[in-house]
Amino acid sequence: MIRAFDAFSLPLLRWFDPEDAHRLAIQGLKLLPPTRPRTDDPKLAVRAFGLNFPNPIGIAAGFDKNAEAPDALLRLGFGFVEVGTVTPKPQDGNPRPRLFRLDRDEAVINRMGFNNDGAPAVLRRLASRAHHGGIVGVNVGANKDSPDRVADYVRLIETFAPVASYFTINVSSPNTPGLRNLQQAAILDDLLARVIDARERVRQKAGDTPVLLKIAPDLSLAQLDEVVQVARSRRVDGMIVANTTVARPKSLRDKARGEEIGGLSGRPLFRLSTRMVAETYVRAEGAFPLIGVGGIDSGGAALTKIRAGASLIQLYSSLIYKGLGLIDDIKNDLAATLLRTGRDSLAEIVGADAATITAEDWPV
Ligand code: FNR
Repeated sequence: MIRAFDAFSLPLLRWFDPEDAHRLAIQGLKLLPPTRPRTDDPKLAVRAFGLNFPNPIGIAAGFDKNAEAPDALLRLGFGFVEVGTVTPKPQDGNPRPRLFRLDRDEAVINRMGFNNDGAPAVLRRLASRAHHGGIVGVNVGANKDSPDRVADYVRLIETFAPVASYFTINVSSPNTPGLRNLQQAAILDDLLARVIDARERVRQKAGDTPVLLKIAPDLSLAQLDEVVQVARSRRVDGMIVANTTVARPKSLRDKARGEEIGGLSGRPLFRLSTRMVAETYVRAEGAFPLIGVGGIDSGGAALTKIRAGASLIQLYSSLIYKGLGLIDDIKNDLAATLLRTGRDSLAEIVGADAATITAEDWPV
């Protein structure tokens, strides 16, 4: 059924402007009948941040920014959904066009700029589906015109704690000027201290909500040293590696589109983001688990990301090129690999290649 849907919808959506196609996809998901998802192979289950994931594949932030279709995405087979980025106030984002397909590269460039409905609207939607269960994380960010960005994150933690399975502190979008400066050690330390403090304040009524930090793949290794050190000392529950890149790999075929300003995602991001997963894994020394994201478009790519150090994975751009059947393809490949190698869980291979990957030449 999903494959038939892909065969019909993928060529059709290609005719639309990318942002209109995305809107249509969200509307289509909202119409999906409320069928029960197939039960996952128990070997694909992952326990991380105190949560039980039925399978390791999540939909990355930016697809369902406004929490319009988390249940449909869970029914399609995702093990978890990350909504957002949400900001306290609604925001239009940058002028269109701001989303570009690089077809020959199976890549995307976006400079959306945190367009979203704002915290109150997103909270209403999440509250009305909370009884459905499933792991739904909330990715939070600051408004572009905010006079106090750290206060924005704190407010969002307080607002969403009762309905969020976990939080992602997004300090890595390239499309809000100055946002990535929050990754600087002293600023990050203050931000995380106040965020964790807010989480503790609401703990009594909202429970213990894990806080994850999402970083850019463009950090230098010296910057990564500091970021991981701060994350460890502030006891964050995990890190998401990585957001889109402002770099443009030489291998890009669509040179013209490649000139568009914004963050690049999809296949050309795979090597850099996987390297950053491995580099983060060796620095974290098991202090917390990682979610690996960037260019995953097959079971093999998912496996590589896990062996680099990711306990869980997320994807977005490859759905545009491969369709929803990709979710089952990845699950089948991962389960077949476990069976073939006589292993009981993915946890046994997390980080198995991290040391090897960090010794390779830097991906360009
Ligand atoms: C994103 N991404 C993103 N990330 C985030 O933390 N907050 C956001 O609002 C968005 N918005 C967004 C919009 C669009 C159109 C894209 C393509 C991506 C980044 C996303 O979550 C992910 O980190 C990267 O896209 C890399 O994964 P893929 O797409 O290569 O699988």
